Amino acid sequence: MSTTTTGRLAGKRTVITGATGGMGRVACRMFCEAGARVIGSDLDEAAGRGLEEELRAAGHDFTFKAADVTSEAEVEALAGFVRQRWDGLDVLYNNAGIILGKPLLGTTVEEWDRLHAVNTRSVFLAIRAFAPLMGAGGSIVNISSGGGARAMRNMSAYGSSKAGVILLTKVAALELAPDIRVNAILPGTIDTPMPRNFISRVPAGGEREAAWQALGDGRPLKRVGLPEEVVPLAIFLASDEASFITGVDYFVDGGRAAA
Ligand code: NAI
Repeated sequence: MSTTTTGRLAGKRTVITGATGGMGRVACRMFCEAGARVIGSDLDEAAGRGLEEELRAAGHDFTFKAADVTSEAEVEALAGFVRQRWDGLDVLYNNAGIILGKPLLGTTVEEWDRLHAVNTRSVFLAIRAFAPLMGAGGSIVNISSGGGARAMRNMSAYGSSKAGVILLTKVAALELAPDIRVNAILPGTIDTPMPRNFISRVPAGGEREAAWQALGDGRPLKRVGLPEEVVPLAIFLASDEASFITGVDYFVDGGRAAA
C-alpha cells in the first residue's frame, strides 16, 4: 500500500464518519487523493470492506472500521483503534447523518431522539473521544446542513439537530483553541441517496421529477449540488492552508442562503 507524501493533506491522519454514504464515499476518495491517510467508519461492514478494497486498489492508505456514531462505547472503541494504529490524529470529519421529514405534531419522541442522537450527539461523542488524540494543528470539520440555519416545514427534528451542530462547532472552536480548529459546512441539497430516498416518497413519474427539479430551482444556481462540490471545502478546512480559520460555518448551497 502506498503512503502519499504529496498533496494538500499529505500524511494527515484522518477519520471520516458516514464513510459509505453518498458524500462519505466521495470524501474518503478525495481525502486520499489529497494525500491523507484515512480511517473511514460507518454502520455497514460489507459496504465498508468494498470501499476499502476499491481505495486500496487505487493505491490509497484507507482502512474501514465499523462503528455506530450514536454509541459512546463504539465511538470510544474507534478512538482506541485510531490510537493503536497511529498514536494520534490530525483530522476528524463528522459526516454521518440521517434525515426525517415530518410535521412537528406528528413526530414521535423516538424519531426526535434518533435524529438528535445520529446528527448531534454523535458529533459531541466524536469530539470528546478524538480531540485528546489531536495535537497542535488539528482540524475538525462537522457536516451540518442549510436546514440547520433556516426554518423549513416538516424539518423540526432534522433542522434542530443540525442547528445544534452549528453551535457545538463554535463552542468546540473556543474550547479547543489554539491547538485544534473546528468548522462546520452547511450543504444545500446534494445528490446522494439521502435526498433521493427522501423524494422517493413522492408518487413516481413526472411528479417526482418535478419535486426533484424544485429542490434545484429554489437556488440561484438553479440545480442541486454534487458531493464533489462539497468535499473540496472540507479538504481546505482540514489543511494547514486554513490555519487561521476556526468557529465558522460555511454554506455550500448554490446560493440558497443568500436568496
Ligand atoms: P447518506 O445517507 O448517503 O450517508 C449518510 C451515512 O451516514 C450513511 O452511510 C449511513 O450509514 C451513515 N450513518 C447513519 N447513521 C449512522 C450511525 N448511527 N452510525 C454511523 N453511521 C451512520 O447521506 P449524505 O447525503 O451522504 O449525507 C452526509 C451528511 O451530509 C449527513 O450528515 C447529512 O445530514 C448531511 N447533509 C446532506 C445533504 C444532502 O442533500 N445530501 C444536505 C445537507 C446536509
